[in-house]
Amino acid sequence: MTTTLQLPASRVQDPNSAPPLRWGIMGPGRIATDFASSLKQHTQQQLTAVASRNHARAEDFAEQFGIGLTFDSYQALAASPDVDVVYIATPHPFHAECARIALEHGKHVLIEKPFAVNAEEAQSIVELARERNLFAMEAMWARFTPAADVIRQILANGLLGEVQHVRADLGEHFDPVRNARLFDPALGGGSLLDLGVYLIAYDAFLFGEPPLEVAAVGNRTDSGVSADVAMTLTHRTGTSQLFTTLDVRTPTAAFVKGSTAMLEIHTPFYAPTAISLRANDASSEVRQDFSVQSQVDGLCFEAAEVARCITAGLTESPHHTLDGTVETLRVLDRAESLIPAVGVALNSV
Ligand SMILES: NC(=O)c1ccc[n+]([C@@H]2O[C@H](COP(=O)([O-])OP(=O)(O)OC[C@H]3O[C@@H](n4cnc5c(N)ncnc54)[C@H](OP(=O)(O)O)[C@@H]3O)[C@@H](O)[C@H]2O)c1
Repeated sequence: MTTTLQLPASRVQDPNSAPPLRWGIMGPGRIATDFASSLKQHTQQQLTAVASRNHARAEDFAEQFGIGLTFDSYQALAASPDVDVVYIATPHPFHAECARIALEHGKHVLIEKPFAVNAEEAQSIVELARERNLFAMEAMWARFTPAADVIRQILANGLLGEVQHVRADLGEHFDPVRNARLFDPALGGGSLLDLGVYLIAYDAFLFGEPPLEVAAVGNRTDSGVSADVAMTLTHRTGTSQLFTTLDVRTPTAAFVKGSTAMLEIHTPFYAPTAISLRANDASSEVRQDFSVQSQVDGLCFEAAEVARCITAGLTESPHHTLDGTVETLRVLDRAESLIPAVGVALNSV
């Protein structure tokens, strides 16, 4: 029998049409630069304030993006009446503290990935946001692109049948000197928190729920952070094999085997340039290309989602929930605990 597969169209609206909010930025580093560029190029969002521990850095950043207010403390930015929502772009160990400061000053928060360094810390942010009735979300930008919406519909419409297997990898080559943060335990370094978070969150998106069991083998850098890590996750309906590394750029592709069709998510899976859907019996195949090529083109979608949710009175995004975010950190905690302090974990045969 011949099946004709058809891909749904993306329902993601133009980020430029999202209602403008006033944004304050904590931590004007690398990703904050991409975020501000993306907002400037693709949205009506207003960048009103920036805070750095170093005032000169805040001023440079403000000049680059036409931001009116600069602060030399995160507290002062959080207290500003000219800010609606704070984008937290500090290294992971400071996310929880920055979020607490912002939420206690009545500000909504968008927090860079990973939301926190472990599930317990993430849960404390979630509880504070809920207590204050404020919006909070992890900046998992991969959830909000047009490609993600097409995949969301493929899953929801049962075009794959039951999801039975996911395979994905995410590795990059990081020079330990130029990328010291990634190798420094005090700054939350390691492949799991920096890159593994994308894999685990994406896997939960594809299966629609967190795994039941986590197995991981891998090793650590000389500084003691996670390096090469291979994970096998067991879900109710299938399994996943995920690999991350700080050592080499991997293909960064993903595929999802369903009971009736297979979805290939072309590299890089977190912002795919194309997807292909193929019937398991090879009777039909369809492909769609996407235009998001860079973070600057992609980060605007998460900002638009935040603006739309806050304007609609929501305290979290239905597409990237707070409970889901905590679950992802629980999986990362478990994987981290399985990687030995020295050497490679091997199962005997
Ligand atoms: N979404 C993505 O695609 C993506 C990509 C890269 C990184 N990220 C995430 O974004 C966060 C920041 O990463 P990044 O690469 O932008 O880092 P970065 O370039 O090192 O910038 C981090 C900023 O945090 C501030 N900071 C506050 N306390 C600090 C401390 N004790 N040590 C160092 N910096 C401190 C610094 O700002 P001041 O000194 O000016 O206050 C600095 O500008 C991380 O959580 C990372 O996972 C996300």
